[in-house]
Amino acid sequence: MMKSRVLRSDLLRVFATLAMVFVVVVQVDAAVPNYNPLRDPSFGPIPGEDPSYSDYLGVAPPFPGNLSSPILNTTSGTPGLDDVVFQNLLSAEWLVYNVYQQGVELFKASDFINAGFPNTTFDRIAQIRDNEAGHLRVFQDQISNASVVPGPCKYDYGLTGDPAQYLAFATFVELTSMAFVSGLTEQLAKADNYYAVFFHALNTYSVPFNTSTGVVTIPAQIEPLGLLMIAIADEPGAPTAESVLAGPLPILQAPTSLRPYLLGL
Ligand SMILES: *[C@@H]1O[C@H](CO)[C@@H](O)[C@H](O)[C@H]1NC(C)=O
Ligand SMILES: *[C@@H]1O[C@H](CO)[C@@H](O)[C@H](O)[C@H]1NC(C)=O
Ligand SMILES: *[C@@H]1O[C@H](CO)[C@@H](O)[C@H](O)[C@H]1NC(C)=O
Ligand SMILES: *[C@@H]1O[C@H](CO)[C@@H](O)[C@H](O)[C@H]1NC(C)=O
Ligand SMILES: *[C@@H]1O[C@H](CO)[C@@H](O)[C@H](O)[C@H]1NC(C)=O
Repeated sequence: MMKSRVLRSDLLRVFATLAMVFVVVVQVDAAVPNYNPLRDPSFGPIPGEDPSYSDYLGVAPPFPGNLSSPILNTTSGTPGLDDVVFQNLLSAEWLVYNVYQQGVELFKASDFINAGFPNTTFDRIAQIRDNEAGHLRVFQDQISNASVVPGPCKYDYGLTGDPAQYLAFATFVELTSMAFVSGLTEQLAKADNYYAVFFHALNTYSVPFNTSTGVVTIPAQIEPLGLLMIAIADEPGAPTAESVLAGPLPILQAPTSLRPYLLGL
């Protein structure tokens, strides 16, 4: 009798302990869901909606350019189909974004004016930086929660503080990253017809884009226009967001005075 009572109370104690452990486990589970607000596309300014991705002129890096670490996966399991493509695009985008962020940090508007460039040069650099920050966010949002979202490296571009050297370098990076996007198009899909679509103000110019060569010649009529955007699309004119396979990428056309620097790169 005694023995069985002890046994029962022991059992009860074990039971109670187990129940507590269970509750604790359940609570830990609920308290630490692998939630990271940065993985939520509605967190922070939203590309295409928030003006900070086009006309913020401050020096401090705009979101998500203010992040310095990768964002870890919050789930395990099968990665999204295009995760690797977007991880590559995002890594390239970090490099491009930082060219402009470093420019904004290194120069003042007067540096470009004193070097003979238009008085809008600094603001344009800040705005291209903003636009690149929007691309960072777009690419981040494309990566599934089962994959890591790459963060930036520390980039030493060898900038000397010479405004002309800087602008030449930025142009060089735009051109090489355009080639990079061309290469990625092949990874994205296999289709018969691709177009490189150039945008300037309200005009678009489409030229066939051959994915085997990945070479695009900028149409002669838009060469003198200065800043323009390019996208790779599967329809002429890139009429819908869905038709855009890669890009848009802003292109800063090089003034003639940059030529010696560009040739030296
Ligand atoms: C990742 O998870 C967040 C919630 O934590 C969700 O809002 C977001 O849509 C998920 N991302 C993808 C690409 O499914
Ligand atoms: C980056 O900016 C976002 C949005 O403004 C902010 O919530 C976040 O705390 C910032 N992160 C860092 C590391 O500064
Ligand atoms: C992240 O992915 C790795 C590899 O698939 C996995 O082992 C790990 O559990 C994942 N992290 C989370 C929080 O699910
Ligand atoms: C910038 O330059 C243009 C012409 O080159 C001039 O009309 C304008 O007043 C200048 N703006 C400033 C703020 O200096
Ligand atoms: C694309 O370029 C390759 C290599 O030059 C060529 O063989 C092919 O015919 C071209 N395709 C089109 C559609 O022009």
